[in-house]
Amino acid sequence: IAASSSFVLPLLLVLVGVSTVRTAAPVKGRGEWRLLRASIGISAMHMQLLPDDTVVIFDRTDFGRSNISLPGGRCRFDSYDLALTTDCTAHSVLLLLPSAAVRPLSLLTDTWCSSGALLPNGSLLQTGGFNDGDRVIRLFSPSRGGRSDWVERPFYLSVRRWYASNQLLPDGRVIILGGRRQFSYEFFPRELAGSRTVFQFPFLLDTWNRETENNLYPFLHLLPDGTLFVFANDRAVVLDAIRHRVLRRLPPVPGGPRSYPSSGSSVLLPLRPGAAPEVLVCGGTPWGSYQAALNGTFLPALRTCARIKPADSDPAWSLEDMPLPRVMGDMLLLPTCDVLIVNGAAAGTAGWELARNPVTRPVLYHPDRPAGRRFAVLKRSRIPRMYHSTAILDTYGRVLVGGSNPQAHYAFANVMYPTELSLEAFHPPYLAARTRPRMAAAPREVGYGERVALRFEAAGHYGAWEELVVEVVVVAPAFATHAVGMNQRAVMLEASRAVWAWGNFGYVAEVVAPPSPKVAPPGYYLWFVVHAGVPSNGVWVRIR
Ligand SMILES: *[C@@H]1O[C@H](CO)[C@@H](O)[C@H](O)[C@H]1NC(C)=O
Ligand SMILES: *[C@@H]1O[C@H](CO)[C@@H](O)[C@H](O)[C@H]1NC(C)=O
Ligand SMILES: *[C@@H]1O[C@H](CO)[C@@H](O)[C@H](O)[C@H]1NC(C)=O
Repeated sequence: IAASSSFVLPLLLVLVGVSTVRTAAPVKGRGEWRLLRASIGISAMHMQLLPDDTVVIFDRTDFGRSNISLPGGRCRFDSYDLALTTDCTAHSVLLLLPSAAVRPLSLLTDTWCSSGALLPNGSLLQTGGFNDGDRVIRLFSPSRGGRSDWVERPFYLSVRRWYASNQLLPDGRVIILGGRRQFSYEFFPRELAGSRTVFQFPFLLDTWNRETENNLYPFLHLLPDGTLFVFANDRAVVLDAIRHRVLRRLPPVPGGPRSYPSSGSSVLLPLRPGAAPEVLVCGGTPWGSYQAALNGTFLPALRTCARIKPADSDPAWSLEDMPLPRVMGDMLLLPTCDVLIVNGAAAGTAGWELARNPVTRPVLYHPDRPAGRRFAVLKRSRIPRMYHSTAILDTYGRVLVGGSNPQAHYAFANVMYPTELSLEAFHPPYLAARTRPRMAAAPREVGYGERVALRFEAAGHYGAWEELVVEVVVVAPAFATHAVGMNQRAVMLEASRAVWAWGNFGYVAEVVAPPSPKVAPPGYYLWFVVHAGVPSNGVWVRIR
């Protein structure tokens, strides 16, 4: 923390009262790109941050040889594998933060185009995939020092789940919904589903286009009343997944399909105490884009975002134009409660070599500003991130960006968009702030509705003279793949003013934990304290 040198300016700010403005104008700047590793050995098709600050990354076992060997000279024999029946390379790695060291992990069956969710106990549940992996679930438990490996449970799923989506529910179960030619959902743990294990869901058949599907990797958002918002193709419903009833049908979103392979992206906007939930869907393709791309015509991607309050009595989508059109973008909730849109292409669709014109500039969306003033274009990356790229928020408030492989195998030369093994960190503009709040002490575990104290330091202010207005937010880490951030969630907490407590810069803020598991399903979240538009690092908290 910068000490005496920063006394004079803050004192002036106190005198003019600036520090009691709720959130000052966000930090200017267009962000920074940093290369964390030129190669992590595999292409980051799926990523999940775990509560020990490691990141599980995997692609697919039938990609051929990766650029990292399995540990201990081991090999995997797979007579189903069309690429390679004996493969001595790894298709999953564990990234250790903050060093970005990489350790190979052992996957036995194919995880291609699969899904996942962080369980309430901090283990990652991964579900489905392709071929010998399509009914398998896999568990990965964090351990300090990163010594864990995958545990696979074959034939756990009732039907094959390839391109399905997951969402953690208030009771701690995970719903596994959809997948290629699967118009149904099921649950983990299976035993708690009762006598039936598969629940038919005709909405997925209604939204299925015979030629192009356009309803894969549905967008799932748990609404704060415990119901599930389900979006596929260009339509959405609200599902009661306890009683297995569709409660409402929302109007179609104009413009074209938004689900895989017409991959737009979607977030549940940060939940605020007392405010109605809102869903945002951005990008996608016009109708017919997939067939046109197969024929060599790459239609411009959709430029619109659509925003809706699903609990309104007469919900309607409101449309906004992004500064850049995009398909296969990843949408991330930042601790400032803004939305980052990164990766993808401006023409074509998801699928093998079916996209053109990489969009290398991220866009920031400020949900609270008036329409027409919500977007900002950020700094360009050098690396195109096309089909099979991903992005996740990390503990330090950075965005980890990896993957991209529009080929059916690893291909590093003589292709338009070579396989990317690199991992970058995008630093949102707030990371350029001269000082950031620093969490000094925060509870590791809280109960629903519990009132707790967070101690933090905020430099650039002169302690005893003032109270700070801060925002405290908890963010659930997403399982990222194919432009979908499963379980991504940000909940703003009721926070009092932070009062000066010690030293020059020490403050205490009293906050109220999320009121119920419907608002924040049980499990691990990152606490962030945000002052003047600048977040602290995240600190893990288990909500139960
Ligand atoms: C893959 O590994 C080989 C051998 O270590 C190396 O020469 C090559 O540059 C690597 N390729 C990439 C794209 O990292
Ligand atoms: C979490 O629960 C899963 C499923 O019951 C179990 O397999 C796993 O070992 C548990 N993880 C921890 C860290 O206890
Ligand atoms: C694609 O090309 C084929 C062969 O020329 C043609 O029959 C088909 O109608 C075209 N499809 C589209 C969607 O343009």
